Amino acid sequence: MKRVDDFRLRLGKHELVPIMIGGMGVDISTTDLAIEAARLGGVGHISDAMINTVADRRYNTKYVKEKLAIYKYNVNNEDKSAVKFDLGIVAEATRLHVDSAMSRKQGSGLVFINCMEKLTMNAPRETLKVRMTAALDAGIDGMTLAAGLHLGSFGLIEDHPRFRDAKLGIIVSSVRALQLFLKKVARTNRLPDYVVVEGPLAGGHLGFGMDWAQYDLATIVAEVMQFLKNEHLDIPVIPAGGIFTGTDATQFLEAGAAAVQVATRFTVAKECGLPEKVQQEYYRASEDDIEVNQISPTGYPMRMIKSSPAIGDGIRPNCEAYGYLLDANGKCSYVAAYNREVAAHPGARKVSVPDKTCLCTHMRNFDLWTCGHLTYRLKDTTHKLADGSYQLLSAEHIFKDYQFSTDQKVALPEPVAA
Ligand SMILES: Cc1cc2nc3c(=O)[nH]c(=O)nc-3n(C[C@H](O)[C@H](O)[C@H](O)COP(=O)(O)O)c2cc1C
Repeated sequence: MKRVDDFRLRLGKHELVPIMIGGMGVDISTTDLAIEAARLGGVGHISDAMINTVADRRYNTKYVKEKLAIYKYNVNNEDKSAVKFDLGIVAEATRLHVDSAMSRKQGSGLVFINCMEKLTMNAPRETLKVRMTAALDAGIDGMTLAAGLHLGSFGLIEDHPRFRDAKLGIIVSSVRALQLFLKKVARTNRLPDYVVVEGPLAGGHLGFGMDWAQYDLATIVAEVMQFLKNEHLDIPVIPAGGIFTGTDATQFLEAGAAAVQVATRFTVAKECGLPEKVQQEYYRASEDDIEVNQISPTGYPMRMIKSSPAIGDGIRPNCEAYGYLLDANGKCSYVAAYNREVAAHPGARKVSVPDKTCLCTHMRNFDLWTCGHLTYRLKDTTHKLADGSYQLLSAEHIFKDYQFSTDQKVALPEPVAA
């Protein structure tokens, strides 16, 4: 009987354990988690989401405070178009983060960065170019383009000396999105090194509408592989979303996938950036506690635990400090929704905003609990302790469980005292 370890992912000269831990934004997939995947011979991701904010927390910079000091005058202004990021600082923050991972990386695996196009940062092209360029400058092994079609992204870095040597991949949820991307990048004479096909059970933002439940990962993966075959394109395909056991992963590898991308199982790893209190919420969640909703200002549906404090909250927008979701015109749909509620409730000390969330503030504070659909199975991967909490796992334990398990089994960790 085959297991994941019987397969290898080949990316250029690298031969890897075919397990990729997906990027989880705002430092949920930490550098610690990413370098653990690399040490074990697979691929880990860091994320450049809210990079200035992450740098402040991790590297003692003061980027957010400094930005707020410049734009404080604008806090009560509905028009946020003046609130710009300093591109030099975005580059510096990105370099700090990438360098922290690359300088500590050991083993034969790789560390990639997840780069979301929907983080438009009030100057989409300029900020994306700086983020990608700085990550390449700082020596990242590769970059996974996410949350968007990224039709212009290769073009933004085509003159970079590492454009052809760094591994570049894209996340798609349909053949159509892949076709569009390939058509656009043909001009740069460079194909992606891998394609992550993300199905409807993934965590974070979804590349589907609210009819997500009608789609099925295996079907989309088969369609993408058939399309690539018809086009005589040899690009590794990496399914993601709802691959919970080594057996699930092996089934995709046997069907021709090059590797799998997984994330949810690692949300309860000690190396994961979620605070332990939140990790316990993930463990406790039942299937009914998880929903896909449309409160993200990105416009993409997002999966989350229904009891996330962010849902329905009406915090004042913090764009002067954050502002990562401001579009090219300085607009964010949360700002509009918040102002609508304030206008509708004159004199109220606090409003509730049911239809949108201040994603920046809430992701920063770990009170928007995005998760994969199979989060409700996490409790079956560990021990319940005497105090009612669940035992956290090591990333190594989870990684090796994917790598070596068979028969839909999940290995439990060595029990510890509560
Ligand atoms: C907590 C969490 C946060 C995530 N954040 C991001 C993100 O910032 N960018 C992204 O491209 N994907 C994100 N994802 C998706 C994962 O990278 C991955 O593709 C997917 O969740 C895999 O499915 P699984 O969680 O069922 O294993 C996130 C997933 C989770 C669980």
